[in-house]
Parts: sequence; C-alpha cells; structure tokens
Amino acid sequence: MAHVTVKAPGKINLALHVGPLEASGYHDLMSVFQAVDVWETLTAEDASEFSLTVSGDVVLDEIPLDENNLVIKAARAVQRVSGFEGAAAFHIDKKVPVGGGMAGGSADAAAALVAVDALWGTKLSQVQLLELAAELGSDVPFSLEGYTQIGRGRGHLLEPVDSLPFHWVIVPQTLHLSTPLVYSTLDGLRGESAPAVPSAPSQGLVDALFAGDAHALAGELVNDLAAPAISLAPQIQSVLDRGTTLGAVAGMVSGSGPTCVFLAEDTQHQTRLVDGFQGEGFHALGASSPARGAHLLRN
Ligand code: C5P
Repeated sequence: MAHVTVKAPGKINLALHVGPLEASGYHDLMSVFQAVDVWETLTAEDASEFSLTVSGDVVLDEIPLDENNLVIKAARAVQRVSGFEGAAAFHIDKKVPVGGGMAGGSADAAAALVAVDALWGTKLSQVQLLELAAELGSDVPFSLEGYTQIGRGRGHLLEPVDSLPFHWVIVPQTLHLSTPLVYSTLDGLRGESAPAVPSAPSQGLVDALFAGDAHALAGELVNDLAAPAISLAPQIQSVLDRGTTLGAVAGMVSGSGPTCVFLAEDTQHQTRLVDGFQGEGFHALGASSPARGAHLLRN
C-alpha cells in the first residue's frame, strides 16, 4: 500500500482516581475512559525519510514535528519490532485540543501504529500493538482500543465496559496544562496522605453507563486531577460555573485539563448548550460517546 488514512478518537475520563506516586514516577490509577467522536485523522505515505506536517482548527504551535513527536516514535517502535527499514511521510489533521487532557497526542500515536502497520504490511497482532502503545504513553493503549474501558496500572491495563451513547459539549481552553505538572500539584496538595485507588468503578457508574442514563451518570463523575488543574488555572472554575448556569446535566475537567466537558440530556439539549457557550464567546463543540478506537479508513 502506498498511502493509508487512520482515524483515532479523543477521550474523556468519566472517573479518574489517582493513587500514590510510585517509584516508577507514575501514579497508580483506576480510570474509566470513554472515547468521543472528536477525531484525529492521520495519513501516511511511503517515503525515504520520516516527515510530519499538521493542520487543524486547534492551537498547533506547541506540536513537535521532529523525532520527539509520538507519531515518529510510534513508527520507529514498529520498525524495531518488525525489522522493516522504510520510512513514511505523515500528516495529522487535528481536531482534539492540544495539551487539553483529551489524549490528542496519544490518539496520534495510536493512529501511527495502525497506519505504518498497514502501510508497511508488517501485520503486527493487536497484542503487539498494545505493548508498543503502552511504551509510548499511558493513554495510547486506550486510544487504540476506544469505546469505554476501565484503565488500571498507569492507565494502560484495560478492561472493556458496556455503555449506551452519551452526548457532551466540549469547551477547550486557550491555555495548555502540562500533565506532569498537574500530577505533581496533586501530590503537593495531598502531602503524605494519597489514598489507595479503588479496585473497580462504583456500581452506580457501571449501571448508569449500561442504562445510558445521563442523570445517573452525572452523580458518578469523579476526577482527582480537577482540583490541581483548577489550582493551576483558576479560570477553569468559571467555565464549569457557566455550564451550570446554562443547564448542563454535569460538568467536569477532562483528564488533566484544562478542557471542560459538559453532559447533555440528548442531542437537542447538546445543541442548546453549544449555542449557549458560543453565545458567550466560548469555543464549544458537540461530541458523542462511546467512539471506536484507532482504525484504518478504506481508501
Ligand atoms: O505516560 P505518559 O507519558 O503519557 O505520562 C505523562 C506524565 O504524566 C508522566 O511523565 C507522569 O508525570 C504523569 N503520569 C503519572 N501517572 C500516570 C500517568 C501519567 O504520574 N499513571
């Protein structure tokens, strides 16, 4: 194949319990990830050297275009395990906010794994792709699998959960938050008293997902990274307050932030919320979940 296109979804965390900092430098997690239909689209074509370009209606200037980008790292990882010696020219059309807590970079990495495996005909198994994904970043395995998953360990050990559709409004922020900084701020706020993470999500959360019940889900959303994100970027709180005023069923910080996500009752309510935020000068977009993981488009 000389040219492939892969789409990979952004994610939100419906529950994000963060435990103590481990000797590895990572925190033990119990998270419930859900993929949303906000897509990164990656194209890859045969080339003699690696290259990367980006486009999209998100802030692009902080994205590295060299070997530091997870896309190139993902391609090199496939080269390493397969022995394939070619390269590829990549282009990413970005829709997931950059540095926003929605795993856009992880989606790009997952898309790159799927893309070069198809482009180069290396035929890695899903298990091999998941192993490479976990090396690339804690959220990359989820970006490969998509839908709704419990994430344990660093967030990379996945277990699927059933979920009917939900409708969200995503409100990106212009500032970016560094994920390591948000985690270390949480450690600082907690001092020595980090709680152990629960072994599983609450039964209320599992039941709300299974039933597709937005009002039941609203009472189950939890994010341990919200407090440190708000302490670093207090304007997040005013965005959450706007959502309450506009009548969202619930609002929360997405992952390590600063993107805020709001739960709607249905698609009509979602449209009213998007209009409400836009009427007040916010950038807002509707999204539905769960969405599938990184997948090849038929050219
Ligand atoms: O795995 P990834 O490279 O995406 O993680 C980025 C940073 O987020 C890590 O370097 C670490 O500071 C923090 N992190 C963490 N615990 C996790 C996942 C990420 O402390 N489970």
